[in-house]
Amino acid sequence: MDFSQAICNRTSIRKYKSAEISRVILEQLVNAGRRAPSARAVEPWEFVVVQSPQTLRELSEIAANGSFIQYAQAAIIVFCRKTKYYLEDGCAATENILLAAAAQGIGACWIAGDKKEYASQVSEMFRASGLQLVSIISLGIPDEIKAQSKKRSLDNVIHWEFFKKKESSE
Ligand SMILES: Cc1cc2nc3c(=O)[nH]c(=O)nc-3n(C[C@H](O)[C@H](O)[C@H](O)COP(=O)(O)O)c2cc1C
Repeated sequence: MDFSQAICNRTSIRKYKSAEISRVILEQLVNAGRRAPSARAVEPWEFVVVQSPQTLRELSEIAANGSFIQYAQAAIIVFCRKTKYYLEDGCAATENILLAAAAQGIGACWIAGDKKEYASQVSEMFRASGLQLVSIISLGIPDEIKAQSKKRSLDNVIHWEFFKKKESSE
């Protein structure tokens, strides 16, 4: 799949087949994450790869709005050291992983982040004390066919040079 296809075809996938994702592919996904830009090149990230069904189940019970993690074949959890721009850096890494997954035909969903009440619980669960949870990415071979998610149109979001002046009502 080429780059623009991966971007356009990526959607959040929350239903997974029971087929395994190989360690090689999981390493490729983390590799995509670590290639992300980071402010001042500090690379504050750490990636925990989870394949244990029991751990995935426990995670699904902790992560509100992430109950489907229990059906995932794997998850990558992105933690960051608390640097000034850790959230931006960790999000860049997360998006790289999502796009790399889409390019490989792997379904993925971004769950949560550092603002969730359960963030510190997840850090403790993975012995990531002192690290900030940025995202949980559930992974699996898609077991749902989804059209591209509806997005705001290009015309609606693009502003050449600056925002247009509001038309006067007079
Ligand atoms: C910061 C962030 C947190 C998210 N948290 C959740 C979540 O907790 N549970 C979930 O099912 N989806 C979560 N999502 C996925 C969004 O719901 C999804 O990206 C959005 O509906 C747009 O759909 P798309 O990913 O298919 O384009 C999250 C996405 C982001 C960027």
